Amino acid sequence: MVRPGPFSVRDPPAHLDPQNPFSAILVADSPTPEKETEVSPPSTPLVRSPLRGEVKRRGVLLAGWALFTAGMAAMVGVMGRFMFPNVLFEPPQEFKAGLPMEYTVDAVDTRFKASHGVWIVREPLGFYVLSTVCTHLGCTPNWLTADEKFKCPCHGSGFIKSGINVEGPAPRPLERYKVTFAEDGQLLIDKNVKFQSEKGQWTWPGAYLDFVG
Ligand code: FES
Repeated sequence: MVRPGPFSVRDPPAHLDPQNPFSAILVADSPTPEKETEVSPPSTPLVRSPLRGEVKRRGVLLAGWALFTAGMAAMVGVMGRFMFPNVLFEPPQEFKAGLPMEYTVDAVDTRFKASHGVWIVREPLGFYVLSTVCTHLGCTPNWLTADEKFKCPCHGSGFIKSGINVEGPAPRPLERYKVTFAEDGQLLIDKNVKFQSEKGQWTWPGAYLDFVG
């Protein structure tokens, strides 16, 4: 239920007679109606579409950044290669090859062919060590026990047990490496020192190891 509020005398409206006291009316003291204000629709923020020049500038900036990033990545890669270069791990050039008694007389020992690239030949009077590199173009020949020769699979060069070339395009004998005794009595092979037959070096000290046993 709505209760009437306090009454007040107000100026009569214009259409009433101001001289007539009875024409005054009591009106409820109601809240003055608020003026209607015009509500404007929410304004949409203005979004300006980029100009052609701005788009171009942005593209150039992006391209620049991409180039810069690619350049930095390449530089890091190069530095990485510099810091961690490819290292070729080669077997030691000097190594021990066991005791003389482990070798069979008049036989070519192939046990160090794959690991160290040498054949060790045992003769009744001693040892010599041959390189497994063909003197033609560097292939690796095979020792053929039945034929008593080294045969290269690439172009057919053949070498007899001493290392002398006897067939095919190989222009010179196989090379020999230095062989001595280590302190513990084992054969000591030194691939840093090589001997070439065509230069008369097979008679040099180290090209042959005397041993009778
Ligand atoms: S590499 Fe041995 S014969 Fe050519």
